[in-house]
Amino acid sequence: MTASILILNGPNLNLLGSREPEVYGHETLDDIEELCVETAAKLGLAVDFRQSNSEGELIDWIHGARGRAAGLIVNAGAYTHSSIALLDALVAVDLPVVEVHLSNIFRREPFRHRSYIARAARGSICGFGGHGYALALAAMARLIESRPR
Ligand code: DQA
Repeated sequence: MTASILILNGPNLNLLGSREPEVYGHETLDDIEELCVETAAKLGLAVDFRQSNSEGELIDWIHGARGRAAGLIVNAGAYTHSSIALLDALVAVDLPVVEVHLSNIFRREPFRHRSYIARAARGSICGFGGHGYALALAAMARLIESRPR
């Protein structure tokens, strides 16, 4: 069966394309979803790509991934820097997690330098715009391949 990767996008990422293009570029979230679907197909993976502005909904989706998804790719938006609840949910489901950010959070304001999500992640990719999602899928494919069965 094709392994499925749940790709979660947090608050304000629905506005990509028009939101601070000097920081986030001109790609829309639909463009990034298309890139993920194409990249996943080449890697022999399937993707379930979602966005929510609600912390609770993101947590419910993480819980729902248990037993269904082979791994999680997470751009938690600003919840990255604030949400212990999202961190706890990611730890609880015990699936491989790759953290993604479009912007290089370490070149930005000091409050963006701390990531709670990073504590649950096998690795983090930031600063490469939408291409970071393709890199995250490639990393995830290797993580899944090398997992003990
Ligand atoms: C972001 C970085 C966060 O600091 C910010 O709050 C976002 C987007 C990124 O993808 O670069 O909403 O996660």
